[in-house]
Amino acid sequence: MTSGTDFEIFLMAPPGFETELCAEARARSFTSPKVVAGGVVVTGGWPEVWRANLELRGCGHVLARIGSFRAMHLAQLDKRARKFPWGTFLRKDVPVHVEASCTRSRIYHSAAAAQRISKAIAEELGAPVKPDASVVIKVRIEDDLCTISIDSSGESLHKRGHKEAVGKAPMRETLAALFLRRCGFDGTEPVVDPMCGSGTFVIEAAEMAAGLKPGRSRRFAFEMLAGFDAAQWEGMRRSGDVLQPKVSFFGSDRDAGAVRMATENAQRSGVAAFTSFRQQAVSDLQPPEGPPGLVIVNPPYGTRIGDKKPLYALYGALGRPCASGFPAGAWES
Ligand SMILES: C[S@@+](CC[C@H](N)C(=O)[O-])C[C@H]1O[C@@H](n2cnc3c(N)ncnc32)[C@H](O)[C@@H]1O
Repeated sequence: MTSGTDFEIFLMAPPGFETELCAEARARSFTSPKVVAGGVVVTGGWPEVWRANLELRGCGHVLARIGSFRAMHLAQLDKRARKFPWGTFLRKDVPVHVEASCTRSRIYHSAAAAQRISKAIAEELGAPVKPDASVVIKVRIEDDLCTISIDSSGESLHKRGHKEAVGKAPMRETLAALFLRRCGFDGTEPVVDPMCGSGTFVIEAAEMAAGLKPGRSRRFAFEMLAGFDAAQWEGMRRSGDVLQPKVSFFGSDRDAGAVRMATENAQRSGVAAFTSFRQQAVSDLQPPEGPPGLVIVNPPYGTRIGDKKPLYALYGALGRPCASGFPAGAWES
């Protein structure tokens, strides 16, 4: 069994964005970030787990890998799970839910594995096991090695806690932040989204420019774990300066409801002073006053929206003002 002060922390990335998340983790000074399938691994202790949840814009969930042991069959899994120091991590009064997966292992029945671990936690620690619990234990059995992780985030991290209003096909904040990073956005140039919907790109860009922490307003599962230090967390959450961006961030959409939503979402996020939203068809798009920057857009597409035919005209209507008003070399898109 392994478990020490520092452990592996797994940062979950949207498929195809592991490299960008790794670059973000490196930029935020996490230790030894390494790209792995589905995400990035760093090392650290609980303060780094909290900070990953608080600061990383591209990460979907932060898993704390709290220990591992070999298990060749279910009886051994049961025995070793009963000896695992659950009380170091979990509270007796907080319900948990266990999820398991098995790969290339003699134990191949993931539901049976989850049941053995759930029973060990319920009987040895006394914590209630419930399917809708906010604390989720993830058990991965790979090559007969059973690795135990806690999902320290709880609800997916794209839920920043500011967006009450979303449209039909909103983009996840985590994905928007990673697209901005992939485009080289560093917070110093204006951003234009001519089909902004609920304003995700514009608000993410504005928050990045202002140095706001993405998790500043929400709750996390780690707040319900044993040994959580609320005062230290509060200090971390409140630390750092908020900057006044030198440029502005612009969204437009032909739909009045979308513009209203985006405006309200920007207000709740605290970036209303340097964002602006207007009702406008993409064909009327004009470059804003000020320096050139980045045009980024998540247009309606394919089957998610329904009928594809009107998309040809729409994409033409998007391309024309981009080509004429936002010259490549000055503007990026
Ligand atoms: C996929 S959604 C964008 C979602 C957005 N990224 C978000 O996170 O909420 C596409 C948006 O394009 C807008 N749209 C469609 N046709 C348009 C047009 N001709 N001019 C401007 N906006 C348009 C829709 O109203 C919709 O809000």
